[in-house]
Amino acid sequence: MGFTVAIDGPAAAGKGTIAKRLAAHYGFAYLDTGLLYRAIGRVASQRGLDLDDGATMGTVALALDPAILDDGSLRGREAGELASRVAVHAPVRAALTEFQRGFARRPGGAVLDGRDIGTVICPEAEAKIFVTASPEVRARRRTDELHAKGRAVDYETILDEVLARDRRDTGRATAPLRAAPDAALLDTSELDIEEAFQAACRIVDASLHRRNGA
Ligand code: CDP
Repeated sequence: MGFTVAIDGPAAAGKGTIAKRLAAHYGFAYLDTGLLYRAIGRVASQRGLDLDDGATMGTVALALDPAILDDGSLRGREAGELASRVAVHAPVRAALTEFQRGFARRPGGAVLDGRDIGTVICPEAEAKIFVTASPEVRARRRTDELHAKGRAVDYETILDEVLARDRRDTGRATAPLRAAPDAALLDTSELDIEEAFQAACRIVDASLHRRNGA
């Protein structure tokens, strides 16, 4: 029987790490939906297309070759910026909906992370978690992550990027970033990864018990 865990939240709140660990822990499949938007942004910019043209971006989304999702550089800052620009367009989001829903309903269970999983893609998900942290904490984490990779970036620049991305993601008309009314809120500002993962497990366990009628 299917069981969907929907994880949403702003950039660098820790949702990717939590989602991956939950998937491994429960033996569920995992989909990082941000990668889909990143890939569309990358392809469109490589082709020199107008990222503000929703109809054109929709056709790029419909023709997306899944092989590109394995490209590790998609997780970088530039692709994140391009992603949030193409993600504002309704035709782009519509082109990705069926794929994400199909993934979510896999018989073995699935974890999806993104911005609109609990609100638009899987409003019927058995477990919903909205992962947040203060912008300062998120910028600090992202800066440390980049320093660990040997990148010379400063905290203020990253904080500006985080705030700009938050504004774009929460302010857009189509599928804005927000917590579903029935999502459990998980603020990781004061938690390390292990504590955040344990808190997420408690939320999923409670949903599993509810589903199993225990
Ligand atoms: O890990 P991080 O939060 O930096 O990035 P991501 O989850 O890969 O998302 C990159 C961008 O894609 C976000 O800023 C959103 O604009 C967009 N996105 C979205 O609109 N809907 C999703 N389900 C996932 C990502």
